Amino acid sequence: MQAPRLQPSLRWEGGSVVAVDQRALPRDHRLLRLTSVDQLLEAIRTLAIRGAPAIGLAAAFGVALSAHRNSTGGRVDEAAVRADAARLIAVRPTAVNLTWGVRRAAARLDGGPDAVLAEALAMLDEDAAVNAATAQRGADLVESLTPGSSLRLLTHCNTGRLATAAVGTALGVMVTLHGRGRVAEVLVGETRPLLQGARLTAWELGEAGVPYRLCVDSAAAAAMARGMVDCVVVGADRIAANGDVANKIGTYSLAVCAAYHGIPFVVAAPRSTWDEELADGSRIVIEERDATEVATLAGNRVAPAGAEVYNPAFDVTPARLVTAVVSEHRVFRPHPREADLTSPVTP
Ligand code: MRU
Repeated sequence: MQAPRLQPSLRWEGGSVVAVDQRALPRDHRLLRLTSVDQLLEAIRTLAIRGAPAIGLAAAFGVALSAHRNSTGGRVDEAAVRADAARLIAVRPTAVNLTWGVRRAAARLDGGPDAVLAEALAMLDEDAAVNAATAQRGADLVESLTPGSSLRLLTHCNTGRLATAAVGTALGVMVTLHGRGRVAEVLVGETRPLLQGARLTAWELGEAGVPYRLCVDSAAAAAMARGMVDCVVVGADRIAANGDVANKIGTYSLAVCAAYHGIPFVVAAPRSTWDEELADGSRIVIEERDATEVATLAGNRVAPAGAEVYNPAFDVTPARLVTAVVSEHRVFRPHPREADLTSPVTP
């Protein structure tokens, strides 16, 4: 069956947010039309809209929806909109992009609902430019870190156009490297429990013609030990001022393994994912999600009834395990360059 061509994950159309329903992919390609803040909150909570940049943009549109609903004669009921804004920020606590999106849109409340919407639309446009710049800079960086012509990359979760408004962050880097003829293979971790790697990244890489193989998350260490990985490239949900990185659960184990094997570990994320208010990652709030995500597989219960579950959606990778964080405007190296590749780090 010919895969339907994916549209941008998010757009504004006729007073509503139109979003690809990521819960259904790759089985079904369906769109959601969201006209209220409550609908938008539910879409973000259930991961119909997901990925740090995408939820930041969606939250900005949420403020625009609220501003339109709570205004009369061009005057906005700011208290009502700020209450909705607080709910939007709280719906997923780890990604700082939500706060960023809400704050940027809410800063235009003085100009009325159309000014708020104009800001959200501008942010959507900017994301495409941010993605393009990050992808080029990130590809340059990975090339500089990895001698040899043919690269074996490893990634986790989904960081492509479903998670952003354009080509993506880490996935954009990989697509760009593929365009330069450098990619032999991308190993994609399935990303339990919600399988963003298996369902979404595999879909996007396939569509872009990038050679990939899927593996269970726990195969990553063995692949590194067997010399099958030249560089790990992932995204982020919140980055503290010192370079500690919160990202999808399992990222920290990949960083530990990469350091042990002397493999570069690169994070690609926009400036909006940096939280300069946090000196380090110790105060990043980690979202814990419902037990059923772990206790079931494709809708079937796999754990015994009553099994207790620990289901953190994210973890924090310490900066010392990160080779570099690349964004649209810089490459940040949390620790001295000599330590990058020459001596494996013992955690
Ligand atoms: O729970 P999710 O699917 O929203 O988690 C997404 C991730 O962890 C991504 O790696 C991150 O948001 C970067 S997306 C460009």
